[in-house]
Amino acid sequence: LENGLARTPPMGWNTWNTFECNINETLVKQTTDLMVSSGMRDRGYTYVNLDDCWMTRSRDSAGNLVADPAKFPGGLKALGDYIHARGLKFGIYESAGTMTCQQYPGSLGHEQADANLFASWGVDYLKYDNCFNNGSNSQEDYIRRYSAMRDALQATGRPIVYSICEWGDFAPATWAGDVGNLWRTTGDITNNWGTVDAIYRQNVGLASAAKPGAWNDPDMLEVGNGMGFKEDRAHFTLWAAMAAPLIAGADLRSASVATFSTYLNADVIAIDQDTLGKQARRIATGNGLDVLAKPLRGGDVAVVLFNENNTANTISTTAAAAGLAAASSYRLTNLWSKEVSATTGAISANVPPHSTVAYRVRAGAHGTSTDATQPIQGVSS
Ligand code: DGJ
Repeated sequence: LENGLARTPPMGWNTWNTFECNINETLVKQTTDLMVSSGMRDRGYTYVNLDDCWMTRSRDSAGNLVADPAKFPGGLKALGDYIHARGLKFGIYESAGTMTCQQYPGSLGHEQADANLFASWGVDYLKYDNCFNNGSNSQEDYIRRYSAMRDALQATGRPIVYSICEWGDFAPATWAGDVGNLWRTTGDITNNWGTVDAIYRQNVGLASAAKPGAWNDPDMLEVGNGMGFKEDRAHFTLWAAMAAPLIAGADLRSASVATFSTYLNADVIAIDQDTLGKQARRIATGNGLDVLAKPLRGGDVAVVLFNENNTANTISTTAAAAGLAAASSYRLTNLWSKEVSATTGAISANVPPHSTVAYRVRAGAHGTSTDATQPIQGVSS
């Protein structure tokens, strides 16, 4: 959506993956503080987003949505102020139906009033779900419901990132680029390798739809929520290669050093946030072994070797296949270990199970100097 927002994929945190309906003001404030103190804000995680269950079961007598006073005693305007005062932005959730998925009042038919209320609270991001959508069963219905909120948000005059959550029902990659800044392409993610891998496979082929202001959304991150360390890193790397929104879903109050080291990897974040705004293309696949290539501004290419299998495998490609300019040598910077090496063209690695090996590849660059940041102390790759 050309509303000037989300020129790179949105980054932030959302309540749903860990807390579902068990949310409150204290949790959100503590998380806001942790996003600052952990360094996440300064790495680009900007949006602090409420998901479902922030409101009361019915509208007030004037027809307005009401923030649950037991969960948010200070109200959401004050919560937004708290978030803004710390250099972050405030996100909220609603549904393009008569109710949200957890059966709180939906915005269908109330789009402008609800958008106005959100704007008055200082909301900067809306995730707009698809439950209780009144039997809406055509792409046309979907486009109509989601466009109504787009127009309502625009009419508020406040810049609000618009996140479409229709789960990939009606091929959103073919129409949502004019309606929202991002659109879910799949059902819900869980903290389980099989789901993450399946979602990756549904999203990876949609590269041509992604561009600044308009991103495929393979759902929020499960990093830190129970998968293995290598699986978390593979998940994070694949999402960055796919120019996906990086919306953390862990409880930051109890997250480990390893979890923060994954969320904070500046070299992987730079791949996601590259201003060329291209989603990686899959340039080879077979037997659970994939090669992704993401063109970057300035001519570098991110190359990801991905092994979805339960056993280690060697995966190989070349700089030419990845789309790099012809050169007599290339510099490979490993995005996790930070090792730098040179190659005349072959790019190959033994990739552990459920893992990625990822490089930034530069044509014609020699030597061992690198832009890469240093590994975080105490965390092995
Ligand atoms: C379905 C969405 O896909 C999830 O991300 C989450 O927002 C839930 N609804 C909330 O009920």
